[in-house]
Amino acid sequence: MAETVDALAAPDAALARAVAVLAEGLPVAIPTETVYGLAADATRAEAIARIYEVKGRPRFNPLISHVSSMAMAERHGVFDPLSRALAEAFWPGPLTLVLPRADTSTVHDLATAGLSTLGLRMPDGIARAIIDGVGRPLAAPSANTSGGVSPTEAGHVAADLGRRIPLIVDAGPCAVGLESTIVKVEGDAIRLLRPGGLEAAAIEAVAGRPLQRPAQAGAAIEAPGMLASHYAPDATLRLDAEDVRPGEALIRFGGRRLPGEAQARLVLDLSPAGSLREAAAHLFAYLKRADASGAGRIAVGPIPQDGLGEAIRDRLKRAAAPRP
Ligand code: TXA
Ligand code: MG
Repeated sequence: MAETVDALAAPDAALARAVAVLAEGLPVAIPTETVYGLAADATRAEAIARIYEVKGRPRFNPLISHVSSMAMAERHGVFDPLSRALAEAFWPGPLTLVLPRADTSTVHDLATAGLSTLGLRMPDGIARAIIDGVGRPLAAPSANTSGGVSPTEAGHVAADLGRRIPLIVDAGPCAVGLESTIVKVEGDAIRLLRPGGLEAAAIEAVAGRPLQRPAQAGAAIEAPGMLASHYAPDATLRLDAEDVRPGEALIRFGGRRLPGEAQARLVLDLSPAGSLREAAAHLFAYLKRADASGAGRIAVGPIPQDGLGEAIRDRLKRAAAPRP
């Protein structure tokens, strides 16, 4: 089983241990504000290959490179003024920018899937300190078996990948709970490639223009992580449920009771107070709990579409999509 180090009780020891294992070219599960990431040195082919191996992930899927400073970011990506303004406003934080690769970038092709662009994000907290300690970008997809529900607690990682990785850094539950929002500046436009833990409206306020959604742009899916079935629990999901059927587990929102709850196997409320922020932080853990209840089906009550609701509903839709 993976060694787990407690970053809240002993941050310096956790940091040193993580940096040492990463320097050996091995993957380490690290906490970020969004979800736990499976990190490895983004400049080393064999280190990245281990990420794909551990996750069982299709190789064509490009990984986000995580940086600890603007200087490191600029060594690997070419910033236009708008992308720079977004980085200044939201980094460290749950925003990934897709940028042209810089000539000086040493991120390996295996991490970018051979694309001429690069996904860059500066995470907060101990993740940033670990990257700083390694001195190079870390590639880090979510620390789960490919296609599964993303981990927001160290225990989720241990249960899924514990036998396949050497080290898990535990910093408690992730504050945001949804993967980063991914955008790409194209001329005067900003395209939303993946809704996530940073609300679209916050980006629009800084950018002074609306984000273009994939449907509007009429484009093929550009973030391969957006493949239809993703974030899938074992149970099937029924979205926008107006009632609960016998034996189902129920995930609801805002304290809104649904008819039939008495027959539910389990009732979980993402945020009884109706906070989308709280709902986002609970989403993946509650999906796992509902799954573990043994209910073959999970009913999900109505959740608003505004703010973080966009990303929450996106993840639920993917979790409900037919499996390949
Ligand atoms: O919050 C997050 O973003 C987490 C934490 C660990 O940082 N990471 C994460 O990574 O969600 P992952 O690998 O599960 O998702 C990466 C997404 C994929 O959808 C991928 O297609 C997209 O980023 N991506 C990466 N590089 C890209 C590029 N050059 N162009 C378009 N999409 C890219
Ligand atoms: Mg993922």
